[in-house]
Amino acid sequence: MTPMRLSVNVDHVATLRNARGGAFPCPVEAARAAVGAGADGITVHLREDRRHIRDGDVERIGSEVATRLNLEMAATEEMVAIACRLRPAACCIVPEKRQELTTEGGLDVLRAGPFLGGAVRRLAGAGIEVSIFVEADAAQIEGAARLGAQAIELHTGAYADAPPLGRGPHLERLRAGAAAARAAGLLCHAGHGLDYGSLGPVAAMPEVVEVSIGHFLIGQSVFEGLPGVVKRMRRVIAEARAAG
Ligand code: PXP
Repeated sequence: MTPMRLSVNVDHVATLRNARGGAFPCPVEAARAAVGAGADGITVHLREDRRHIRDGDVERIGSEVATRLNLEMAATEEMVAIACRLRPAACCIVPEKRQELTTEGGLDVLRAGPFLGGAVRRLAGAGIEVSIFVEADAAQIEGAARLGAQAIELHTGAYADAPPLGRGPHLERLRAGAAAARAAGLLCHAGHGLDYGSLGPVAAMPEVVEVSIGHFLIGQSVFEGLPGVVKRMRRVIAEARAAG
């Protein structure tokens, strides 16, 4: 099976830093520690309201941490301009609402309007791998392919939030979504809400080449330390890939 990348989302290190208005804890240091422990990439979500990650964090991680940087962002003129200037390895386009606590669902590619296609083209033209965060729905996935995205990220939130015994149907939808991505010629990523327990079945899907994990990973670091959590997640992935 192809290897799977673990991209560590450090947004919540910035949340903690911003709670006191200072420089500690530093998301750039967290990114360095995660990569040192075996993370294959770092994800940051630069939100319109800059509630956690700030522009300077993206710039510093991009220039100071030798890793694959994935910039999560809304498809807005401001964000597209920032991405085209900073040229991270990858961008994941997400829907964004000011009041939400976190990204609440996949982007509705089919109703997104003409700006989205132009944004995908501009980002891709800047040499950035573009993915779109979508629900595991074949029409959405095919829509992302028509827009010229190279990848989709499957929204795993409903699956991960379901009680373990109720996850079966969600997992089936994700598997079908991963197959639809492959059929559409897209790379398949996955993320949202994943933890030690919910990661394995997703990591066992051969089409999924990257997972993006933040909230649990940073939260669990309080108890185990960031390098320990990254290493344990890498083990969960390796075991699932070997068994699958
Ligand atoms: N993928 C996307 C597109 C997201 O918006 C988020 C949350 O920022 C994640 C993955 C990571 O989700 P979590 O923080 O729940 O692990």
